[in-house]
Amino acid sequence: MPAASQSAKDFFRPLAVGAPTPLTEIPFRPSRAIHFFDPSNAKMAAKVPAMVGTVDVLLGNLEDAVKADNKLAARQGLVEIAQATEFAPTQLWTRINSLDSPWALDDLTTLVPAIGDKLDVIMVPKVQGAEDIHYVDRLLAQLEAKAGLTRPILIHAILETARGVANIEEICGASPRMQGLSLGPADLAADRRMKTTRVGGGHPGYLVRQDPTKNSEGDPDILGERTTYQQDLWHYTIARMVDACAMHGIYPYYGPFGDIADTVACEDQFRNAFLLGCVGTWSLHPKQIAIANKVFSPSVEDITHARRVVAAMGDGTGAVMLDGKMEDDASLKQCLVMVELAEQLAAIDPELKQQYDAIETEES
Ligand code: GLV
Ligand code: MG
Repeated sequence: MPAASQSAKDFFRPLAVGAPTPLTEIPFRPSRAIHFFDPSNAKMAAKVPAMVGTVDVLLGNLEDAVKADNKLAARQGLVEIAQATEFAPTQLWTRINSLDSPWALDDLTTLVPAIGDKLDVIMVPKVQGAEDIHYVDRLLAQLEAKAGLTRPILIHAILETARGVANIEEICGASPRMQGLSLGPADLAADRRMKTTRVGGGHPGYLVRQDPTKNSEGDPDILGERTTYQQDLWHYTIARMVDACAMHGIYPYYGPFGDIADTVACEDQFRNAFLLGCVGTWSLHPKQIAIANKVFSPSVEDITHARRVVAAMGDGTGAVMLDGKMEDDASLKQCLVMVELAEQLAAIDPELKQQYDAIETEES
């Protein structure tokens, strides 16, 4: 929302003379996996051009995980890779250093003139409130105007401080550039003083336990066999992200899953986020790309069902029974979410398109 002192109309005027006109809507672009690379790591950087077309988003990371001594090399490396590479259909994003670091300003003033025409989204870490987005918003407009850019670079905020979570709605609505939010579970855990040392994912200590059965005396058998169910530490935050993003027409993402070897738990964590409404996640290793692409694409079974409901619902009103289950106007809308996503993903993923097209063949 524009601040009370600002006219709603001003919200969609450029913040610098000559800067591109802000978007009134953030178009959905497939971004199931945001694959992080360190542009200061020559071995990793050399692999980037060959990854174009194999992943929805490639992100040159300048922040955490890049050593302080390598910050300038990472920034320069990203400029060189971006200038030398044709990225379409893959998006190019970057994660700049945090706004309280000595590097963030130079990240922006270097990247926008040099590769602003290729950068789709700038991820801003450790966002605390709308004031952080306003700062980047104005600076980007000035730099875009100076560089003669014709489309606005979008902003993605990482939610990784308690204050950021408390201010989540105002962050999402702080600028028409806001593209989405990612969960930053490592920084967020530290900032909240949570007692997990893991980078995302579950924790075996965070659980609920089945009630005790009664022993032969009719007393609760406290120490007897009782099933426990591990809970999702991140459920609350992701749910808040999903609502805040949906309210503002932008996109929520899970973040890092640090246990690269545990591909099964990674898939579970990604799927929880997908089911709750997230559109994608980060990939910290090439093997997480395949997991993300699988999880964040609706299954053939879901699309088969969704299309049947759409067909059965005719003009979209009223109720029908399908396989003993009631479907109505609202469940049709749920199905349309799936069908629309499948169409958007099929448009850029030929393998997926083939799978979804095969459904039609079976049915017709
Ligand atoms: C990501 O940046 C995190 O802190 O988890
Ligand atoms: Mg972080």
